Amino acid sequence: MQIIDGKAIFTQIKTEIAEEVKTIMAAGGKAPHLAAILVGHDGASETYVDGKVRTCKELGFKSTLIRYEDDVTEVELLRCIDGLNMDTDVDGFIVQLPLPKHINEHKIIEAIDYRKDADGFHPVNIGRMLIGLPCFLPATPAGIMELISRCRIETQGKHCVVLGRSNIVGKPVAALLMQKAYPGDCTVTVCHSRTGNLKEICLDADIIIAALGVPEFLKGDMVKDGAVVIDVGLTRLPDSGAKSGYKLTGDVKFDEVAPKCSYITPVPGGVGLMTRIALMKNTLLAARKAIYQ
Ligand code: GUN
Repeated sequence: MQIIDGKAIFTQIKTEIAEEVKTIMAAGGKAPHLAAILVGHDGASETYVDGKVRTCKELGFKSTLIRYEDDVTEVELLRCIDGLNMDTDVDGFIVQLPLPKHINEHKIIEAIDYRKDADGFHPVNIGRMLIGLPCFLPATPAGIMELISRCRIETQGKHCVVLGRSNIVGKPVAALLMQKAYPGDCTVTVCHSRTGNLKEICLDADIIIAALGVPEFLKGDMVKDGAVVIDVGLTRLPDSGAKSGYKLTGDVKFDEVAPKCSYITPVPGGVGLMTRIALMKNTLLAARKAIYQ
């Protein structure tokens, strides 16, 4: 069994991107610029955005954080997005999700210029991904694919079970795993809260992507020997013993599942960091106008 070292892969890609930034700057170019809109004070969202801003700094990117309180109106947010769309210094930007209930997330995402959509959430990018055209890939699925390829995990002809059907992970990662390429060429089954024979399906899986957001959902008796398990879950569970007051918990019951796996990702230190580095890659592509003019 091998625990995939997300941190080591993250560090390796960071070095590669930082080198590219140096080359751009040496040629008289400008630093890639990522902006982030953060609404409210959700602890997890704050942590994610802090991490993104920190990684920008480490890479030599410029970053801008724009904060709003929970009571921001949809109109105000749309105006901010318009401003970022027009700002020629900003290469890419994201709106951290989730947003307060009074704001229509789809409307916000569709307002982002797809050429600056560093998260790869805009319907143009999702559609282009689905038909295999160059685009900004959604960050978490792109990070998962990068983990798989850097670990040289075989995917062709494998049965891959995706647990969860969210727009930002389950649906796009299923599309990427079935693409005619490496990594890809998998036979993909997507399971969700209404799937009947979920345990039986999981037991047939060569690769399981757990992205349900249900802590420790995947148990040892649901995984076959030699399976690859990628844990996308990241739930904060109260823990009075921890300094932060919580413990980060994935969707996989690690102690039971790990001994059966050929590869498994830890939480934290697995997919989370890969999501962040995939966002940086998209920002660099946007800055280089590598996908859209
Ligand atoms: N919330 C959880 N994951 C993500 C992500 O990858 N991007 C954004 N914008 N919000 C998120």
